[in-house]
Amino acid sequence: VTKNKLKLASRISRLKASPIRDILKVLERPEMISFAGGLPAVETFPDFANFNSLKQTLQYGPTEGDEPLRQLIAERLADQNLHISPQQVLVLSGSQQGIDLVAKLMIDSGTVVAVENPTYLAALQVFNLFGAAFEPFSVAQLDNLAADDHPPGMLYVNPTFHNPTGYCYTESERQRLAKICVDKGKVLFEDDPYRDLAYSETCRTPICSYAEGDRWIYQSSFSKTFAPGLRLGYLVCSEQLLPYLARLKQAADLHSNRLSQQLVYQQLTDPANERRLHKLVETYRIKRELFNHYLERHLSDVAEWEAPDGGLFFWLRLKSEYPIDTRELLAHTLDLNVAFMPGEAFFANNEAAVGQLRLNFSLTNERQMAHGLATLGTAIRSFSKRNAEVA
Ligand SMILES: Cc1ncc(COP(=O)(O)O)c(C=O)c1O
Repeated sequence: VTKNKLKLASRISRLKASPIRDILKVLERPEMISFAGGLPAVETFPDFANFNSLKQTLQYGPTEGDEPLRQLIAERLADQNLHISPQQVLVLSGSQQGIDLVAKLMIDSGTVVAVENPTYLAALQVFNLFGAAFEPFSVAQLDNLAADDHPPGMLYVNPTFHNPTGYCYTESERQRLAKICVDKGKVLFEDDPYRDLAYSETCRTPICSYAEGDRWIYQSSFSKTFAPGLRLGYLVCSEQLLPYLARLKQAADLHSNRLSQQLVYQQLTDPANERRLHKLVETYRIKRELFNHYLERHLSDVAEWEAPDGGLFFWLRLKSEYPIDTRELLAHTLDLNVAFMPGEAFFANNEAAVGQLRLNFSLTNERQMAHGLATLGTAIRSFSKRNAEVA
């Protein structure tokens, strides 16, 4: 028996469980149809056949990442108009780690962090832990952001096939946002894991490529185009920031898994990789069409949406006749073996019912889409009818 009460760090009071991680637990039921996580289709995962160079990857390696991979990342970013040296690349243990390291570098209690509203919920989770004061902004109202007189802080943005809305910023919106950040002295943190999953022609030029100066960070991931279990991503940033981020990574995990780095390097340099990627995008394009078809069949009376130009999600806005707290709806549909992501978790500072939800279309097959969306439509209609009777 201890006399003294266990005393945790004060920031732990701000630590919330990620709703996705909680849902993933029930997703293991074999009969579950899941539109919840951003899970890639298993059939798109590459074959990693060539393990020849495995041995040399088993030794400790450099914190910043293995040199050939950093070099390759820098070359590929030049094709996207982001011209940096390999020394500005930091290989990450998943791009989620980039969010954690950048939060540690930039956020004190009360630091202003401008975020889209809704935005990626696991970024909110981390920023919140470090005490961010959220300043929601909208791409449709960049004038408001330009006019605000908050202290500089940081701006986090996911401009290409946004999670959760699917939105893709136009070129002029990208240029405008970069200019606002530079003019205001905000650190621009651009998160770009979905850029290669493009189903239509859209501008995908990194916003950071328009941002001169000493305060920008761009990151992407190998989770959506290779395999998320590899836990590999990368960030690149203005030169001054890299030594700090590298030291934070040193303190966090020394370096990313070198076996994953080697496997990704082999894939990226394999001539067959372009064809594999093309097939992956085609697979998702077809899935998006099918998903849209079944959404129209089963949910067009209760919700509105735009089919996304890329990425892995549909974002549904329930019509005003169906003012549902989607967290309560989820508890109901899980009993029916259908999972989705409630919209509320994606909003900063907002626990109120938003009547919006995110549906992933990459994981399920056509039979599951048809059955799952029919079940969801019926659940929304009966749930709101029941609510109306209680009211
Ligand atoms: C916007 C965004 N950022 C970061 C991540 C984290 O990805 P990972 O850590 O697998 O690279 C995700 C995953 O879904 C995401 O949607």
